[in-house]
Amino acid sequence: MDNIEQNYEDFISTVSHELRTPLTSIRGFSQTMLSSWDKIDEDTKKKFLKIIEEQSQRLIHLVENMLAVTKLQSQKNLIVYNEFDIKPVIEQTVSIVKSQYPAQKFELNIIPDIKVFADKDKFQQIITNLVENSAKYSMTAYTTKISAYSKEKEVIIKVSNIGIGIDEKDYEKIFTKFSRIDNPLTRKVQGSGLGLYITKNLTEKMGGRISVNSFVLEGESGLSEITFTLSMPVRTLEEQARIKCNQ
Ligand SMILES: Nc1ncnc2c1ncn2[C@@H]1O[C@H](COP(=O)(O)OP(=O)(O)OP(=O)(O)O)[C@@H](O)[C@H]1O
Ligand SMILES: [Mg+2]
Repeated sequence: MDNIEQNYEDFISTVSHELRTPLTSIRGFSQTMLSSWDKIDEDTKKKFLKIIEEQSQRLIHLVENMLAVTKLQSQKNLIVYNEFDIKPVIEQTVSIVKSQYPAQKFELNIIPDIKVFADKDKFQQIITNLVENSAKYSMTAYTTKISAYSKEKEVIIKVSNIGIGIDEKDYEKIFTKFSRIDNPLTRKVQGSGLGLYITKNLTEKMGGRISVNSFVLEGESGLSEITFTLSMPVRTLEEQARIKCNQ
């Protein structure tokens, strides 16, 4: 078996496993409800339905992410370059994530009038994944910080939260397909382990870079500050024209 075939088989086996887990749970809870309807009280029925709803949500999210992964590999996934101001895009993204995680606090420090030359939808997808992660993997008592500024030929965006740290040996691993770090916080929230893989791919396709850094906070009983740094290149008008021409 060659490498491509092996990768494909690994991918299919991981996908089947990821799909089977929520499906088994949906089937199990609906079968129990159907066969024992009169024996289960109202509260338990509600609890079971909640599980079914959550697991269906997990399946939808997984399928959406898998489609995004397939699109990354397809020629059709064209990047539509335009110059745009990042501040409103980041602000809008944060307010969407905030509505999904109302208990989470966010602090924005974004220098106005910073423009990047990139695909706006894909940029928004990148920011969504990072901000969503910071909400998912934060201790609720702590504020997530999002900052953006420009530095020489780069635009730097940082998303930083306090939670359970990432070991240096896992810095690369979390950007690969289906990778999740097992700890009490990740066990509590759902995820397919595809978000950062998609994020890194989209970033690099647009000429950017992304990295993570995690450092232990003294006296905070094992908590760390985890910072994702996204760097997008500043393009001269000539470079912009050349990129548009090559599309
Ligand atoms: N802000 C963060 N703080 C702490 N750990 C993080 C953070 N972001 C990501 N991680 C770790 O990296 C793993 C991979 O993240 P990724 O976004 O790829 O997947 P996910 O969030 O588990 O699932 P998905 O994004 O597909 O719903 C997470 O499971 C978590 O262990
Ligand atoms: Mg994620």
